[in-house]
Amino acid sequence: DSVIQNLTVNHGVNLILLAIIRLMLVTILTVLPAFLIIWLVSNKYIVKPINSFIQITRVISMGNLGQRVPVLTTDELGQLAQNINTLVQNSATAFQNMANYLRDEKLKERELAVANEKLQQLDKLKDEFVSIASHELRTPMTAIKGLISMIFEGDFGPINKQIQDPLNDIATSTERLIELINDMLDVSRIEAGRLRLTFEDVSLNSIILEMVKLLQPLARQKGIELKAEPFDDRKVRTDPGKAREVLNNLIGNSIKFTDKGEIMVKAGQRENLMYVFVSDTGLGISKENQQKLFNKFSQVSDNQLGRPRGTGLGLYISREFARKMGGELWIERSEPGKGTTFAFTLPLTPLNQPSNMLLSNSYV
Ligand SMILES: Nc1ncnc2c1ncn2[C@@H]1O[C@H](COP(=O)(O)OP(=O)(O)O)[C@@H](O)[C@H]1O
Ligand SMILES: [Mg+2]
Repeated sequence: DSVIQNLTVNHGVNLILLAIIRLMLVTILTVLPAFLIIWLVSNKYIVKPINSFIQITRVISMGNLGQRVPVLTTDELGQLAQNINTLVQNSATAFQNMANYLRDEKLKERELAVANEKLQQLDKLKDEFVSIASHELRTPMTAIKGLISMIFEGDFGPINKQIQDPLNDIATSTERLIELINDMLDVSRIEAGRLRLTFEDVSLNSIILEMVKLLQPLARQKGIELKAEPFDDRKVRTDPGKAREVLNNLIGNSIKFTDKGEIMVKAGQRENLMYVFVSDTGLGISKENQQKLFNKFSQVSDNQLGRPRGTGLGLYISREFARKMGGELWIERSEPGKGTTFAFTLPLTPLNQPSNMLLSNSYV
C-alpha cells in the first residue's frame, strides 16, 4: 500500500516538472525572439541615431558649424535632430555676425589711424606754412611801416590834405597786419614748442609805467582815463618782452572794449608771486563767454560791433606767455555792462639771489 502511495507521489512530481519545462520552453521560444526583435528595432531606430548625434555634435562642438545632424524621421528623435540643427545654424549666424562686426571695427580702426596720421602731417605742414609765411610777410610790412612814418614826418615833403585820410587808413591797416603777423608767429612758436624766453630780474613797476605811457594816447583818443596805481615794487624774474606783450594785450583790450570811464592797472605781491590786475569800466563779458575767450580766434560777437577787428589770439597768447613764465592769467571779475578785471601773476625774484643779470635762455 505504501509502495503504491510512493509511486503515485513520484508520478505527481514528474508531472509538475514536465509542466515547468514545457512552460520554460514556451517562454524561451516566444520571449526571446520578442527581445531580439525589440533589440534590433531599438538599435536601428534609437541607439544608432543617438550615436550618430553624439558623433556629429562632437564634430560641431569642435568648431565645425557647417555640420548638420541627419533628420531621418518625423518622431521625437527627428524633432531633436531638427532642433539641434536650428541651434547650430543660429550659432553659426551669430558667430558670422560677430566676425563681420570685428572685421569692420578693425577696418574702421585702421582707416582712422591712417586719417589721423594724414591730419598730423597736414597740421605740421600748416604750422610750418604759417611760420614761414609770417616770417616772410614781416620784412616787407616793416618796410611799409617805416615808409609810412617817414611820409607822416614829412621826409618826402608836405602831405597833401586830400591824401591825409587814405594815408591814415593805410597806416591803421598796416598796424593791424603787423599785429596779425606777430600773433600768428607767436601762436606757431607756442604750438611748435619753439617759444624762446629770456629770463631777467626786472622791476615790474617800470614795465607797467612804460606800457601805460605807450598806450595813453590810444585811451585819450577815446576819452578814457588810463592809470597805474603805485605799488610796493619788487623785482620779478620774467621775460620782459613777453611781460610787455601780455600787458599790451590786456590794456589794449580794455581800451578797445571800453567807451567811457577808466582803466586801472594795479599790482601787489603775495607769497612768491606778483599779481597784476587790469580793470576797466567797459562792455564786460558774460559768464558763458568767459572760458571760451582763451581759445584761439575766439571773440564775443556782441562786443565786436563798431570796434577794430582783432585776431582773437591775444588772450590765448597772453595766457600761454604767463604760464610759460611761471604764472597764470585769468578773468578775475567781469559783468556785462559794468566792466572787466583781468589778472595775471609773475614769479618774484628769490630774495637771496643776485638780481638784474641775464639768467637763462630757454625754449618752452
Ligand atoms: N576787457 C575786455 N572787455 C570786454 N571784452 C573783452 C575784453 N578783453 C577781451 N574781450 C573779449 O575777448 C575777445 C578775445 O580777446 P583777444 O583774444 O585779445 O582777441 P582780440 O582782441 O583780437 O579780439 C575779444 O574779442 C573780446 O570779445
Ligand atoms: Mg586783444
